[in-house]
Amino acid sequence: MEKTFTMLKPDAVQRNLTGEIISRFEKRGLKLAALKMLLISREMAEEHYGEHKGKKFFDDLVSFITSGPVVAMVWEGQNAVQLVRKMLGSTDPQEALPGTVRGDYALFTGNNMIHGSDSLESAAREISLFFVEKDIITYKKDMDIWVYGQ
Ligand code: RTP
Ligand code: MG
Repeated sequence: MEKTFTMLKPDAVQRNLTGEIISRFEKRGLKLAALKMLLISREMAEEHYGEHKGKKFFDDLVSFITSGPVVAMVWEGQNAVQLVRKMLGSTDPQEALPGTVRGDYALFTGNNMIHGSDSLESAAREISLFFVEKDIITYKKDMDIWVYGQ
């Protein structure tokens, strides 16, 4: 089953929305495979967001993401990468539809609550940046049959 990487950004943690956002993924039927709270180093932030190096928002992005604890997670499910991206909403919360995390809780691109991998390749790279293999738990849940059918 497909896995994706998500990370609650410091604004989500500071605004006490950690449980609320995790709950959305659980309720959708996705399965939590790994989770940890951490402070990201500057080096790790620059590696994670390496594709944006050189862009005008890069320094602000790195400063923001290292400004407080984040919650890194791996979620598993059918088409998890694109499904989670849809649940997050547009990068600019002003464009994000109601019902999405950014559309419900954020107003400003710099503080848009949560990161989600944008492709299978990004997901694999990001999961291995934040977790070691033994952190990723594969397990059965009785609810799987109710989520996906037989
Ligand atoms: P993320 O990587 O955090 O999930 O966000 P995303 O895919 O929706 O957007 P991306 O283009 O990857 O941008 C990464 C983060 O950089 C900040 N950003 N600021 N001021 C700007 O024009 C601008 N553009 C992007 C946002 O915090 C965005 O989430
Ligand atoms: Mg991105």
